Amino acid sequence: MSILFSASVMCADFTDLKNQLKKLEEIGIHRLHYDIMDGIFVPNITLGIDMIRDITKVCSLPIDVHLMVTEPANFLEMLIKYKIDSISFHVESNPNEAFRMVDWLHDHNIKAGIAISPITPVSQIELILGRVDIITVMTVDPGFAGQHFIPVVLKKIDALRKIREENNFKYTIMVDGSVNLKTIPEIMTHSPDILILGNSGLFGDSEGLEAAYKKILTLPEVKTSL
Ligand code: DX5
Ligand code: ZN
Repeated sequence: MSILFSASVMCADFTDLKNQLKKLEEIGIHRLHYDIMDGIFVPNITLGIDMIRDITKVCSLPIDVHLMVTEPANFLEMLIKYKIDSISFHVESNPNEAFRMVDWLHDHNIKAGIAISPITPVSQIELILGRVDIITVMTVDPGFAGQHFIPVVLKKIDALRKIREENNFKYTIMVDGSVNLKTIPEIMTHSPDILILGNSGLFGDSEGLEAAYKKILTLPEVKTSL
């Protein structure tokens, strides 16, 4: 399967959001990554829930919500009134509700994902792997864009691929955090499915979104998988 790219909305220029969303569609980005924080699970607050309503009016890319909140279960009801393709929550936040949340999302026809912070081993989510649609491997600590990449985390992708193959599980492996021209060659050697482009990979490029994405697509490691 060829690699897909998701654009992290929290890194967009909010004064020009409509145009940027249209541009993302035009250049062929595959998905939108939508970070929601509560200032407690991570010391930051970025996007609000209701902005999703406006985004879906001007952009038809599938939206993956990434919850970085202490009580993700409290957010689900508010989110499902909007057109969202998947919701991922951190297993570190409230592990006692993980299975219940996955089942609840499936009951509401939303893909269910688990995100793991760099410090969290794959063994911690082993028992739920057969039930989820997405695993987000974070390659920076959650909460902020523009942080240092943590390469040692990439071995978790290998472990997740091995478990998926051995058990015929179906989850998609996403990589989130400092995915850019410098880190993609190494990331690609681990064969993930979706790369999330944030500040250093897409929105922070002074030459604009189109030029930034073109540079990524022409990397030999990406080109060969197209
Ligand atoms: C960080 C977010 C990421 C963020 C990544 O907590 O989950 O989606 O946008 O931005 P970069 O790629 O700049 O690290
Ligand atoms: Zn994210």
